[in-house]
Amino acid sequence: RKDLLDIASLDREEIEVLLDQAVPFKELFTRSVKKVPALKGKSVLMLFYEPSTRTHSSFEVAAKRLSADVTNFDVAQSSITKGESVRETVETLQSMRTDYIIVRHKSSGLPGTIARLTKASVVNAGDGAHAHPTQALLDAFTIKEKFPDPTGKKVLIVGDILHSRVARSTSTILKKLGLQVSYLGPGSLVPRLGPENIQRFTNYEEAMKWQPDVVYLLRVQMERQDVQFFPSIREYHKLYGVTDARLEEIRQRGLYIMHPGPVNRGVELCDAVLDYERSLINDQVENGIAVRMSVLYHLRPNA
Ligand code: CP
Repeated sequence: RKDLLDIASLDREEIEVLLDQAVPFKELFTRSVKKVPALKGKSVLMLFYEPSTRTHSSFEVAAKRLSADVTNFDVAQSSITKGESVRETVETLQSMRTDYIIVRHKSSGLPGTIARLTKASVVNAGDGAHAHPTQALLDAFTIKEKFPDPTGKKVLIVGDILHSRVARSTSTILKKLGLQVSYLGPGSLVPRLGPENIQRFTNYEEAMKWQPDVVYLLRVQMERQDVQFFPSIREYHKLYGVTDARLEEIRQRGLYIMHPGPVNRGVELCDAVLDYERSLINDQVENGIAVRMSVLYHLRPNA
């Protein structure tokens, strides 16, 4: 495979190969082996048109641990600010013989367009509301660490499903791996029919009766709200957020909590969630490096 653009185009076997390879990569860190020579002599270019903390730094660390050379393309300082087209940018990068391009852009489908323009392997690091495949892979890896056979386990994804590339990619990967997925959120932010007719709740208590094993909280994306945001942020926390009282119930039931970050404290969750013993939020960040190493290791740029 040359590129990783979404989860939908991966079959279960490919997903499992990527997840399995991440296990020894993660084990290397625990043995304090910081680098392997797998991508020595290869170049990785980070092309982020949108901000990122986790995905960007995680890809950079992953590429360096594979001994690749990493260049951070600074969009703000580039000729993009003078109106250079994506095509021209990519052709310029192609002339520099870049082997891998990691791209984040607000437009759905743009990484796919870039992939068709270049011999480099392109990894989608998030495109609009379309896909975030490496987030999905690290989410699946994190769940599999807790449930080695996750078949039939239930994951409730809570929040702004409509604008969320994470919800789209993560629910797709979990379904492919045999888990059950449901959505919970305000009617205006949860599509009536999700992928594969995923069950949809608009009431927290009703959703809890479904008895999830994992509660996956999404970030409320203030920057993508093109519909009237209803309810208000304070109401959202009351209706759908993990409040102190709900955290107590979650603790008693022994449920895991996940969140892709960045977290809006006091919106999706209360501060106490960050110290909750079954919060997997830091595990997700840590696992992101091993999973992204696995992705880079498996992709094959065209010669
Ligand atoms: N989860 C995620 O994509 O976070 P960043 O926006 O910080 O990369």
